[in-house]
Formats: sequence, C-alpha cells, structure tokens
Amino acid sequence: MKNSILFNAKKLGTFEANNRIILAPMTRSRTAQPGDIPTDLMAEYYAQRASAGFIITEATQISPQGKGYSFTPGMFTNEQVAGWKKVTHAVHKEKGHIISQLWHVGRMSHASFHADGLPVAPSAIAPDAQVWVVGEDGIGRMVDCPVPRALSKQDIKDIILDYRHAAKNAIEAGFDGIEIHGGNGYLIDQFMRRSSNKRDDEYGGSITNRLRFVLEVIEAVSDEIGANKVGIRLAPFITQRGMDDAEAIDAILLASKKFNELGLAYIHLSEADWDDAPLVSDDFRHALRENFNGSIIVAGNYTAKTGAKLIDSGLVDFIAYGRKFLANPDLPYRFKHELPLNEITDPSTLFGGNERGYTDYPSYSNLNSLGESS
Ligand SMILES: Cc1cc2nc3c(=O)[nH]c(=O)nc-3n(C[C@H](O)[C@H](O)[C@H](O)COP(=O)(O)O)c2cc1C
Repeated sequence: MKNSILFNAKKLGTFEANNRIILAPMTRSRTAQPGDIPTDLMAEYYAQRASAGFIITEATQISPQGKGYSFTPGMFTNEQVAGWKKVTHAVHKEKGHIISQLWHVGRMSHASFHADGLPVAPSAIAPDAQVWVVGEDGIGRMVDCPVPRALSKQDIKDIILDYRHAAKNAIEAGFDGIEIHGGNGYLIDQFMRRSSNKRDDEYGGSITNRLRFVLEVIEAVSDEIGANKVGIRLAPFITQRGMDDAEAIDAILLASKKFNELGLAYIHLSEADWDDAPLVSDDFRHALRENFNGSIIVAGNYTAKTGAKLIDSGLVDFIAYGRKFLANPDLPYRFKHELPLNEITDPSTLFGGNERGYTDYPSYSNLNSLGESS
C-alpha cells in the first residue's frame, strides 16, 4: 500500500493533511465529572492517533440543552475549553491536526439531562430511539427518549447563538476547525426531514424551509471563525431513529449547493455501516461532486483497499475510519505496511470507563519490533 493514494497529502481548509486517513468522530464518554470536562486521558487517546490526516473528535455538546448521553464533553464552559486545550496541544505536539465535532442532540436525549425534564426538537415527536445514560447507581444503560418539547422561534435563535459561541470556544481551545454534526438523527437532521419536522412556520414544510436552520447555523459559525474552518457531517441514508424520509437525498443535494455558496471546507458523509445497508449510488456521488467544490469525506465500513479505490475514482477525497482506528492507534502505519489489525476486544469499553479499551490498544511497534520506520 506504500504508493496508495491514501498517503498523498492534501490541503483541507487552512491546513495540509499528511494523508487521507481520518479518525472518524467517536463518542467515548470519558469526561471528568461533574462538568463534562475533557481529561488528560482523552488527550493521550487523541495524541496516540495523531498520525491521521486529521482527527475529528467525539461529538461535543454546544450547550447543556444539547446533551443526550452521559459523560460526553461540552464546549461551553471555561473548564471544558481548558480541558480541550490539553487535547489540542497533545495532538499538535505530535504534528497532527484536530477538528471538533459540535452537536446538539435535539430529541435524542433524556429527561435526566434537562431541568424541565424535556429535550427539545423541531416538533413534539419522540424518535423511537434510545440514548446511553448512567443512572444514580453508576451503571450505564440504554433508555428511551421521551416526547420532546417543540422549539419556539426564540429558542431557535438561542441555539444558533450557542453554536456560534461553541465555535468560538473551539478555536480558542486550539482546534484547527469545527465539524457541525448534521447527521445521525440529531437536531439539524431533525429539522431537515419531514418525519421529524412538522412545523408550519418558515422552519418547516418545503425543503427550503427545512434547510433554513442548518444554513443559519453555518452562516453564524462561518461568520465567527471563517467558513474555511467549517465542515458538516450528514447521514443521507439513515432511516432508524424515526428519520425515514424519501426526500432526504433531494434535501441533502440542495443543501450541498448552498454549502458550496457558503464556502464550507468539507462535507462528511456518514454512510450506512450496518449489514444490509443500501449501497451509495454513483449518481449520488457524482451529483454531490458536481454541487460542491470543497473536500468530500466518507465513513462507513471502509478498508484500506475500498477507501483507496473510491479516492482513486475521483469522487471523494478522504476516508474516515471509526472502529478500525479505535482499535489501532497507528492505523495509517498498519495500512501502509499491510500489517494485521487489532480487533475491538470488549464492546463494554466503548462508552465510559477508564484506559481499558481506550488508550491500551497497542500500536504495531509496541507489539513487535519491526525495525522499520514509516
Ligand atoms: C463507539 C462509536 C461512537 C461513535 N460516535 C459518533 C459521534 O460521536 N459522532 C458521529 O458523527 N459518529 C459517531 N460514530 C460513527 C462513526 O463516526 C462512523 O461513521 C462509524 O463507526 C462507521 O465507520 P467504521 O465502519 O469505520 O467504524 C460512532 C461510532 C462508534 C463505533
């Protein structure tokens, strides 16, 4: 794989990525409590993976209201920003680049995270989904999401301000950019789809109206930190979490034209990663490429080979690897030398816990003395 296109450098926004192998955003729920504050252990985890072309962090809430799972980090208090500074510093020390994924979960949340017991959403419709919540007994469980409260127009304005502040904080914390989480059934996705958005004001109804929220968010954060530091993640093919909408692809293709006008650095597709998932059509890939001049990143069950093949086709620029990078801190090195990969050993360590199943996955050179440099 040494000559694979995966190892060609490419500029993304304001920096140059050394390769096309990206650490996909992955929630690991290991913040310090109380306060959802990033820790030294998190800095170590991300620094171990600094050989990625760039890192996209776990989803990070923009406000207390935007939280949906236990122990996920925030980007709205001074303590959180100070914690993130340790993370970005550790990654930069290893010559890596790191982008903060910012989210508001909307209705994908639980009563226990909200003073009034109610998550918020475009409309008062429960998602038929569960979130991971640690109870008073200290044990994490998947629990049902309740019926949310529909947002008022003033609430929407406030949330856009929260995005702006979080983007500003991310840059202050030393991030090289931000990724707005617009996929996987979270708040932005909830606005974009007819299944979750039944509003009759200018934020609901037509595709144009359903895209209004995401575009206002992008405009606000771009105004704050510059559009070339902003990317967006989208999940065109998600149907679970009550997100099935036959118009989703049309909405995303129209959105991609608007993102292009706004000068976003990249679009990141969370593709279907479950077993019987639909294949992404070439037509869709071509249309996206035509609409959008920035970089395109894809994630979802890629190998070194399938990833390189897709980049070679000219339809995407970067591949984000989730589970493989989680278990192999030196994934680019392993790909380059076609070395065997570690597997995830204990799924119970994915969310919450300590260094076990987090920073203790060995790099190849720690397993074997290969005597060869990358
Ligand atoms: C433990 C875990 C946590 C995840 N958390 C997030 C997240 O916070 N934000 C997000 O956009 N996607 C999240 N994902 C999805 C991944 O970014 C990625 O799209 C998915 O794992 C498919 O890629 P893979 O087949 O290479 O693992 C998560 C996936 C895993 C396995």
